[in-house]
Amino acid sequence: MRLIQQRARRTPAQRIIKHRLTLAVLLTCAAAIAMVQPTTAAPGNASGTAHASIAADTGTANAIQPGGTLTRITDNRNSFALPAPTLDPKQLRDFNFGNRLFNTNWTVAPSSANGFDGLGPTFNRVSCSACHLRDGRGRPPQHDEKELLSMLVRISLPGTNRGDDAEIQGDDAHGGPRPHPDYGDQLNDRAIPGVPAEGRVEITYDEIAGAFADGTPYSLRKPRVTLHDPAFGPFDDLLLSARVAQHMPGVGLLEAVPEADIVARADPDDRDGDGISGRANRVWNPIMQRTELGRFGWKANVATLQQQTAAAAHGDIGLTSSAFPTENCPPAQTACAAAPTGGAPELSDRFLDRIVFYLQTLAVPARRGAERDEVRRGENVFKEMNCGSCHAPILRTAPDTMPVVLADQTLAPYTDLLLHDMGEGLADGRPDFLADGREWRTPPLWSIGLFKAVNDHTNYLHDGRARNLEEAILWHGGEASAAQKAFIDADATTRRALIAFLESL
Ligand code: HEC
Ligand code: HEC
Repeated sequence: MRLIQQRARRTPAQRIIKHRLTLAVLLTCAAAIAMVQPTTAAPGNASGTAHASIAADTGTANAIQPGGTLTRITDNRNSFALPAPTLDPKQLRDFNFGNRLFNTNWTVAPSSANGFDGLGPTFNRVSCSACHLRDGRGRPPQHDEKELLSMLVRISLPGTNRGDDAEIQGDDAHGGPRPHPDYGDQLNDRAIPGVPAEGRVEITYDEIAGAFADGTPYSLRKPRVTLHDPAFGPFDDLLLSARVAQHMPGVGLLEAVPEADIVARADPDDRDGDGISGRANRVWNPIMQRTELGRFGWKANVATLQQQTAAAAHGDIGLTSSAFPTENCPPAQTACAAAPTGGAPELSDRFLDRIVFYLQTLAVPARRGAERDEVRRGENVFKEMNCGSCHAPILRTAPDTMPVVLADQTLAPYTDLLLHDMGEGLADGRPDFLADGREWRTPPLWSIGLFKAVNDHTNYLHDGRARNLEEAILWHGGEASAAQKAFIDADATTRRALIAFLESL
């Protein structure tokens, strides 16, 4: 249901009642605030006993409408694929076309599906939505699944690509990962008929036992990623980074947050001494031909939605575009290079623009049950455990953003879009521009409570290793060690409240 329509449909009498109610609520809140003693939130003190009224905290002013006017009330399977309620009819048509492109299964060229052929030659999946199913979160293989369905493995040689190895790097020497000469920087585990796939990925797990301070046991699964069936020589010396597909709602709003606001939160030398630094990634944008702030991807390794979309079309589906005009076939892959193409380029600028517009204008689901007592308690626990020093509750978009529907919005995304050292447990050991092997971008927490409804799973973190929200928190280390310890030390009621809060996002 549209929040805006809902408001417009009220009768004058209803509006007066509503205003009286609002006044009454405000007065009650003011009284409550006056009675509550100011509480100092010590990190690690997770007793959950100090409940300052949430109305007192401007940080939660937007709690119910995380995406500002792009918010929609929804809790079903389709929650991540809805248009912003503020689109005009022309924009809605563009959105619908972008939606269709996001869900298009690309076919092998040449084909009668004119405009939608050019898959591969090597690729991971045949559509954006194959990985971002219903615009949602991917997961690692389950049970006896042999293939990756909604994730991929980035690969590279040790070090970074700074032009010290000119033969391999060529023009791309801008500090990014060093591609393997025969396999590139991402393993393509599928290929069109007559072309060999590059190899196959297997993920197995070791269970690691642990216990909360109150004695309750838990177990975490640590993934081991191995590559098999190398088609072009051994997979020696490769750095591997397995990553699940991220959820899409709100990415346009995150793109519209002014760079200065993001950089202002960085504290690379931890001047304030809270153990949490936070660094901005700076990445090469091949479309703009310049280095820019990184915002997207698990390591903030991509600058813009345009770059992300063109790179995904190229790297994940095998579609050329004006940004990536040549097929993704390293010199050793001769069958790949000889395969027919779907035209030059396979993905037109117009199609690329429509997909970007679609991503930009997706609605953000409203919170569910935010007013419940347990959820409010959980929100206080979130504050007390300092989760918000990385998962920043509030950001604003720039007033001059295009399309205008994204401008001037107050958001509750729960991310600072910065890189944090998350410790050895989560490390992939693979640098990605300025991000080192232990650093990850703080993921936005909006919508994470809806993965179950949309994608039928509750896997979290960059490789989907966490089987639920509790495990996701337990994996936190490095700069987040104090938050993780506070969670381990907390009693069961406090832990449950925190999880209830996360599920309401
Ligand atoms: C093979 C699976 C796969 C396919 C196909 C795929 N993606 Fe992704 N997508 C991912 C993964 C994995 C990431 C995280 C990448 C990283 O960390 O480097 C991602 C990240 C993204 C992001 C960044 C989200 C964020 O919060 O930072 C966007 C936007 C995106 N993809 C859009 C697309 C579009 C558009 C397409 C189709 C052209 C597409 N993807 C196809 C797996 C896929
Ligand atoms: C030092 C910064 C930092 C702090 C403090 C922190 N987090 Fe995180 N959080 C991250 C990063 C970075 C990731 C991504 C790690 C990865 O995927 O390997 C993450 C991932 C998560 C995820 C999984 C999200 C997803 O999309 O899969 C949840 C849930 C989460 N954090 C909750 C919390 C809670 C609750 C707290 C407080 C108890 C907390 N975090 C404290 C940085 C932080």
